[in-house]
Amino acid sequence: MPDLMANTNNGNYPIHIQSGRLDRIGEVAASCVKGRKAFVVTDSNVAPLYLGRATESLRNAGFKVATCTVPAGEPSKCRDILFMLFDQFYEAGISRSDVIVALGGGVVGDLTGFAAASYMRGCPLIQVPTTLLAQVDSSIGGKTGIDLPYGKNMVGAFYQPRAVLIDPAVLSTLTRIVMAEGMAEVLKYGCIRDRLLFESIEKGLSDLEWMIERCVRIKTTVVQNDEYDTGERMLLNFGHTIGHAIEKLMGFTGITHGEAVAIGMVYAARMGEKAGYTEEGTAKRIRSLLAKWHLPVHTELPVDEVFQAMMSDKKRLKGKIFYVFLSRIGEAAAMPIEEEQLLSLMKDVWNES
Ligand SMILES: NC(=O)c1ccc[n+]([C@@H]2O[C@H](COP(=O)([O-])OP(=O)(O)OC[C@H]3O[C@@H](n4cnc5c(N)ncnc54)[C@H](O)[C@@H]3O)[C@@H](O)[C@H]2O)c1
Ligand SMILES: [Zn+2]
Repeated sequence: MPDLMANTNNGNYPIHIQSGRLDRIGEVAASCVKGRKAFVVTDSNVAPLYLGRATESLRNAGFKVATCTVPAGEPSKCRDILFMLFDQFYEAGISRSDVIVALGGGVVGDLTGFAAASYMRGCPLIQVPTTLLAQVDSSIGGKTGIDLPYGKNMVGAFYQPRAVLIDPAVLSTLTRIVMAEGMAEVLKYGCIRDRLLFESIEKGLSDLEWMIERCVRIKTTVVQNDEYDTGERMLLNFGHTIGHAIEKLMGFTGITHGEAVAIGMVYAARMGEKAGYTEEGTAKRIRSLLAKWHLPVHTELPVDEVFQAMMSDKKRLKGKIFYVFLSRIGEAAAMPIEEEQLLSLMKDVWNES
């Protein structure tokens, strides 16, 4: 039985969340497709750890298995590797009745998802996310794609998987930094929608399975209401507007996405307090929880540069932009705000830090 069902305009799919589930990927795949070939894409860090178990399970379920291991890291989300995958799918005789499996973090998930979306105009895909970020965020929602030399995620597709299989036990091999990056996204869910989750983590919760399920429920519900990212999904951007600007200004090196989002959440919460939207003390709670995970909570970048970088890709509606503020931990809303007001709030917050 799946733990959860995601309902989308393009069909429903199960999300299985359980430690040890990796060994049952064959069963899940067999229930999704009629074909008997499986192609597993993974990366060079995940392959030695989990590829053997995944292929064994698929073989035991009667699949003929081919695999491809791409170099670990963001540069693999590129056109050369995408086209190499198409060649390998062809050589392995993959058809639209077979299954393509993405076994890895968000990089493998986005790359393989897009490859599956476009090969033969769409082959069945199973996401097996192996980082916390991928388990709570990138494997859910159907966004897939690759980077181009001029920008991240420039080419892609909305493509829903046939199933998502989340095994929290595989997180035990993550580095502290990669785990913390995922925690930043987990805390984001707590901030925007789940006070109990946030407070449980404050109290030192260690039940990963429970925590992941709460996050996945929030992401699936938000995505369900806004599959093509035109409204409610905006709430998932809490902390990301400033976060993206910081990543961009730092040239996407020296700071991870999760670290930039951590800083962004603290600043956004404090700005909300200054504007009178957010309950006083919220930023302080977020700051201390992030610091427990050794995530940064402060930037030395000048406020004007961050503002400029933010505005370059902000959508405007009738001269106003929408910015996600918390009212309190667990509740958020996208508020229309004038550019000048936003800059003045940012200046207030920068001045005090
Ligand atoms: N599609 C979406 O909605 C969405 C959302 C957020 C982020 N993303 C994308 O996700 C990507 C980032 O994902 P990520 O943070 O998972 O990065 P990643 O895939 O690069 O994984 C981080 C590191 O952890 C390693 N790793 C993965 N699983 C492991 C395990 N179980 N044990 C040990 N090491 C392991 C990887 O090899 C890599 O070195 C970015 O490309 C981003 O654009 C997509
Ligand atoms: Zn994020």
